Amino acid sequence: MKDILTAPFLTEMVRTASNMYAHGWDERNGGNISLMLEDAEVEEYLADAPVLRTLPTGFSAPELSGKTFLVTGTGKYFKNVEHDPAANLGIVRLKDGGQSAELLWGYTDGGQFTSEFSAHMMSHVARLKVDPMNRVVMHCHPGNLLAMTYVHDLDEKAFTRTLWQMCTECIVVFPDGVNVLPWMLCGTNEIGEATAEKMRTARLVVWSQHGIYGAGKDLDETFGLIETAEKAAEIYMKIAHLPLKNTITDAQMHLLEGRFGVKAREGYLD
Ligand code: 13P
Ligand code: ZN
Repeated sequence: MKDILTAPFLTEMVRTASNMYAHGWDERNGGNISLMLEDAEVEEYLADAPVLRTLPTGFSAPELSGKTFLVTGTGKYFKNVEHDPAANLGIVRLKDGGQSAELLWGYTDGGQFTSEFSAHMMSHVARLKVDPMNRVVMHCHPGNLLAMTYVHDLDEKAFTRTLWQMCTECIVVFPDGVNVLPWMLCGTNEIGEATAEKMRTARLVVWSQHGIYGAGKDLDETFGLIETAEKAAEIYMKIAHLPLKNTITDAQMHLLEGRFGVKAREGYLD
């Protein structure tokens, strides 16, 4: 069997965690990532792997039963993932309608998946219904998006329009906009369900005074999605206290829609 530490899905996960840490989005154990693996990938690296432990999930997700995920561990520091992937990451296969997870690899120091596992799995269910190619859910604490939730109206349309106006590429990268949850207790099924509900209409969900969730088809794309929103929030935090002289108009947004073949969320322009 091939060495799993050389698997592209694993090396890419390690690279992504380090990059997120380098961007300052994942202080201490902040943030978590889940990547759904293809059956063929699992077979190539983990064929006949014994079940190391069975972990209860505390929720049900029948749509994902039998699916395998590479997931960051709870309490694990992103900065340490590259130094010891097997302790900081795990590969789990959901069973029993998603109510338990079989550990196939990782969490070598007795750990387990992120405390936000329900938000991740429920978000996978929600995004897969919209986009069958979705494979990644990513959560982190980027400073400018977080700061924005203290000073900007949390109305989703207003929040989205502000971000779109901050960088020309925003409407192209996230035409569905950004959905926003009020502050909620993290690590619970309630915030998991609320996040998944928001994921039905957008790939980005802000957790006010906490961070952001992104979803996408691969790690690079999902990272880029959050990176773009965070860049827009950075511009906003640089200019919000200054007199505004210029902006990107809705007429210009329509030009971007035409040039890049995207459609802004219904009712968000004009
Ligand atoms: P975990 O360490 O359990 O992944 O939690 C980090 C976090 O960001 C909680 O929202
Ligand atoms: Zn968090």
